Amino acid sequence: MPIPLPTPAIFAHRGASAHAPENTLAAFELAIRQGADAIELDAMLCASGEVVVIHDETLERTTDGQGLVSETPLEVLRQLDAGSYFDPAFSGQRIPTLEEVLESVGGRIYINIELKNYTTPRDPLPERVAALVERFGLEESVLFSSFNPWTLRRAHARLPRVPLGLLTTPGWMGTVLNGPLGRLLVPYEALHPERRSVTPALVAAAHRRGARLHTYTVDDPAEARYLFALGVDGIFTNDPLLWTMDGGRLTTDR
Ligand code: G3P
Ligand code: MG
Repeated sequence: MPIPLPTPAIFAHRGASAHAPENTLAAFELAIRQGADAIELDAMLCASGEVVVIHDETLERTTDGQGLVSETPLEVLRQLDAGSYFDPAFSGQRIPTLEEVLESVGGRIYINIELKNYTTPRDPLPERVAALVERFGLEESVLFSSFNPWTLRRAHARLPRVPLGLLTTPGWMGTVLNGPLGRLLVPYEALHPERRSVTPALVAAAHRRGARLHTYTVDDPAEARYLFALGVDGIFTNDPLLWTMDGGRLTTDR
């Protein structure tokens, strides 16, 4: 299914994470208020099997908890404060479940769900995420992304209408996956390279394959201007307000 986003699209990376604690409902609501085209969030399984929305595999950086998300059950995760580390004003924020996020912002903004089972690639994350998206009927406003091609293939097998974004890293592995092999492995609608990998040739190659190119993570307006001039179809940014507020529009076609 084609990705129904403008070019260039503004993805609020982990929500509007420059102004609210990342991967919280507050950050997602703020991204909507700031006019982002999409939100990006990170999904993984906790010990009791629910899909939770958090970036790190450990709790220390963004919550007042300790240890691995994968070893902590939801009833414990629910008690943690996921906002105070950012600003005491956000002390009521919790680690949301994907179910809560889809229920509260699903259908109100396009959602890029990054499937983050990198250290547990055989876990049922892709199938559980796909089941939730199907239950909420959000196939047309969700995109699955991952650095793991096999995770994307499993999500695709379960819910083939949802578009895929293949994330790639800088370095030799990313270079290989940005090439024809990546497209052979994953029938993606979008390539998601790191910003330093973006070249005119890479943009052209993605477009030749009929795919969009969305690059992460861009918070510098000058760099964004350069990338938009190259023809990238979207950027992940922690600060959507830089691009969407009236004075911050970088192109006239948004
Ligand atoms: O989707 C872009 C970006 O989120 C990938 O890296 O580590 O921020 O999840 P990370
Ligand atoms: Mg991410």
